[in-house]
Amino acid sequence: MAIHPPQSRVWWNEPVAKGELVWIAIAFVWGLIMFFMMIYWHYYGKQNLSSEVGRVDLAVYEQKVIDFTDAYTVREEGDTGVPVVKPPVGGDAYMLARTFEWWPILELEKGKTYRLHLSSVDLQHGFSLQPTNINIQVHPGLEHVVTVTPTEVGSFGVICNEYCGLGHHVMTGRIYVVEPGQGG
Ligand code: CUA
Repeated sequence: MAIHPPQSRVWWNEPVAKGELVWIAIAFVWGLIMFFMMIYWHYYGKQNLSSEVGRVDLAVYEQKVIDFTDAYTVREEGDTGVPVVKPPVGGDAYMLARTFEWWPILELEKGKTYRLHLSSVDLQHGFSLQPTNINIQVHPGLEHVVTVTPTEVGSFGVICNEYCGLGHHVMTGRIYVVEPGQGG
């Protein structure tokens, strides 16, 4: 087809072949279906976070996370010394992003609901909870509050999914989920 130059120099005036029109129509209709599926899955797919977002000053947010950590730290993580914080059941839990870590580590109870606050104190970072389908962009100055109810016990990694600098690939965090009444 396109191996040889077009026979007629005014090739753009040629009628569109029927087969091609059919394919254009199919692609267009499929595109519309995919578009409306986005709206459908918003309500029925259970894949949208219940997140609220508000403005916050960087220093104010950092202080909130420090206060939270001071109040509820239960231990330190292995050789890294990162505090592991166990928020009150049903309460607020805080994590902050900064180059290049998510801090502190949280310990939540399975089946309990928490208000998880997320923000950055420097650059744009990402909060991608492994191995779940949760992935959000985290901007400095914007505080996300996500209502979460962990359904599985385990150790969940957090990775940064927004390129943020030389240490981006090592920027991680962790959330532990334990049986109710355990851990600490
Ligand atoms: Cu933080 Cu990439």
